Amino acid sequence: MILKEVVLNNFRNYALQTVQLGSGTNVFFGNNAQGKTNFLESVRYMSIGKSMRTSREKELIKWDEECARIKAVVQSGQVSKRLDVALYQQKSKTVKINSVPISKMGELMGVVATVLFSPDEIGIIKNAPSDRRRFIDISLCQLSKAYFYALNRYNKILLQRNTLLKSGRADENSLAVWDIQLVSEGARIAKSRAGFIKRLEELAKANHAYLSSDKEELTLEYEGITGESSEEISEKMTAKLKEDREKDLRQGYTHSGIQTDDLKVSVNGTDIRKFGSQGQQRTAALSLKMAEVDLYNQEKGEYPILLLDDVFSELDKTRQKRLLQKINGLQTIITCTHFEFENVGGRYFKVTNGSIQPVDADNSY
Ligand SMILES: Nc1ncnc2c1ncn2[C@@H]1O[C@H](COP(=O)(O)OP(=O)(O)O)[C@@H](O)[C@H]1O
Ligand SMILES: [Mg+2]
Repeated sequence: MILKEVVLNNFRNYALQTVQLGSGTNVFFGNNAQGKTNFLESVRYMSIGKSMRTSREKELIKWDEECARIKAVVQSGQVSKRLDVALYQQKSKTVKINSVPISKMGELMGVVATVLFSPDEIGIIKNAPSDRRRFIDISLCQLSKAYFYALNRYNKILLQRNTLLKSGRADENSLAVWDIQLVSEGARIAKSRAGFIKRLEELAKANHAYLSSDKEELTLEYEGITGESSEEISEKMTAKLKEDREKDLRQGYTHSGIQTDDLKVSVNGTDIRKFGSQGQQRTAALSLKMAEVDLYNQEKGEYPILLLDDVFSELDKTRQKRLLQKINGLQTIITCTHFEFENVGGRYFKVTNGSIQPVDADNSY
């Protein structure tokens, strides 16, 4: 998959900006606070339908402006698609694909597939479980619209169940109605997550061995309700909801379900979420991300677009080199302040105060 062109209009600190991307490495460099991450954010937005930095979408609109637009042309195989996102201060956003407005955000999933490497993402091993769930969910949503819809339905049901619990008017009968729906969507999601982690593990293991020069063995484990079949998972979820009912009523929220899942990450048998060195945690995060790239390719027969926001400074020379080898040949958008590693070819862009200028690679420094 190749992102050909991005046009930003009143998005963050960009007034009007067109960028023609190359099919290989695209390096965006410049001082801090010039707009490098803003550009990546616009690409990620088209990919997952939200920002990786904020849930308040109005922040994406250039200050004092009414509307922000992101337009893009993406090519997958022989098929080229035009995307057009408009965010407004006063009304709901619109998303068009080939000039046709989409009615559900799910239609956007997978149109521009991206894998994000950033200092935040490099922290996913040591961060809270919610960050690891987000990683799994974003990855799965890009692979499957059905997963995206199931997750959205689940979250709505959970919200309603929690609202009922908080209202103090909940009882056995009113909760039972929500429980049936919660379990039906929850079991579907748990099954997808478990399957995804199993496949991811195989690929992450190989990547981790490569990054650690075969010194470390990575294992992944899904921490959630598992079972051989959807029926078995549903039964276990139902039983757990019953078990937690009194606690739910007393404390006013739902204690069990896929919203509490986690991903256990171990190296040579040790859980590195808590007991890993920073180096192990970073390597493992990189291995997971690389595995995400590989898995997407296995599933879809093409590579996603890689977004590398300021990550090279976080990695030692060996890992920088191996990461560069891995991304060789894929479309990559890299941001950095200092381009420390050797010239990797591709296109170079200088970012200065909301303006992006293509530059000749040899004269960039
Ligand atoms: N909605 C907005 N309107 C105008 N400028 C913005 C908006 N949001 C952020 N900015 C500006 O964008 C700059 C940060 O850009 P960013 O892409 O994060 O920098 P970097 O190049 O370091 O990655 C800051 O100067 C900030 O003031
Ligand atoms: Mg930045």
